[in-house]
Amino acid sequence: MPGLIDRYGRRLDYLRLSVTDRCNLRCIYCLPPGGVALRPPSDILTYEEILRVVECALELGVTRVRVTGGEPLVRQGLLDFLSLLSRLPGLADLSLTTNGTLLPGLAGDLRQAGVARLNLSLDSLDADRFARITRGGRLGQVLRGLDEALLAGFAAVKLNVVVVRGFNLDEVPRFAALTLEAPVHVRFIELMPLGEAGPWSARARVPTAQVRAVVERELGPLEPAPGVAGAGPAEYGRLKGGQGAVGFIAPMSRGFCASCNRLRLQADGALRPCLAGGPEVPLGPLLRSGCPEPALRRALERAASLKPRSHRLAAGERGEGRVGGEAPCMARIGG
Ligand code: 5AD
Ligand code: SF4
Repeated sequence: MPGLIDRYGRRLDYLRLSVTDRCNLRCIYCLPPGGVALRPPSDILTYEEILRVVECALELGVTRVRVTGGEPLVRQGLLDFLSLLSRLPGLADLSLTTNGTLLPGLAGDLRQAGVARLNLSLDSLDADRFARITRGGRLGQVLRGLDEALLAGFAAVKLNVVVVRGFNLDEVPRFAALTLEAPVHVRFIELMPLGEAGPWSARARVPTAQVRAVVERELGPLEPAPGVAGAGPAEYGRLKGGQGAVGFIAPMSRGFCASCNRLRLQADGALRPCLAGGPEVPLGPLLRSGCPEPALRRALERAASLKPRSHRLAAGERGEGRVGGEAPCMARIGG
């Protein structure tokens, strides 16, 4: 069976597509107040170019695609693109990650366009705090978006919460309790030294074990949650009576590289084998030169072969060598 297998035997069957490097928020751990220099529009892949890459990836055994940004909903024409994408033969699962601010009025359309599962990034349930951490975001919009998403018939709706010490650790029980009120999965993520968080992530990170202990102390033990695990690295448990599960993503304290199954296509066409840095394979020039299918296939295989065994973010934080030039930023890489 053909496929994208890396040097360590991992089968890469999950492609994350960042469709834009733009975002309408400026989360304090991600972007500086004025944003980062954006790629010139001419560097951004067209939807047609992205679809070509996805078609090639599907032939190489990719079955799942997640659309991200920046904030994907800021890009014009996204719904038509998603409709085309969701109908590509071989695609078993299409999902989307959004900050939710533009979701009101759009959740049903996203479901119609073929998005099966939706992830919403939300770090505070307090309006003032939310405005502070996102530098101006309006919580009400996101909560309305969440309500609409819960009614739109997605196979799963997940909330991603990055836990930041001194900022939202006290909201962990409240977030976890949402799983008692609605069929939503709430996942707590360890802060990584990416983007703006680079210099202070070690201080502000709350290890997963501690977050889990807070949840269990306040809300009771988490029971096993069979069948919830998606394609990703989250570990799940369920509160007694929970409609959704509580998940923990521990890139730093546990690491999840051994089972990493993903490749990332950035909006500028760079194919990135690892979230945390390392080599990229630029596809833009190739696509613009009208390259034949085998050349594109080889570029994807090359990216797979460049995938490192694991990220070195923890080592970088401890000062053991540089983690690879400038701290990569989620808004560019796409989560
Ligand atoms: N550490 C952990 N998560 C991050 N995200 C962005 N930057 C970081 C970071 N430094 C999260 C966002 C969103 C997802 C796409 O990535 O909050 O949930
Ligand atoms: Fe926040 Fe995501 Fe936008 Fe970064 S890309 S500023 S994490 S919403």
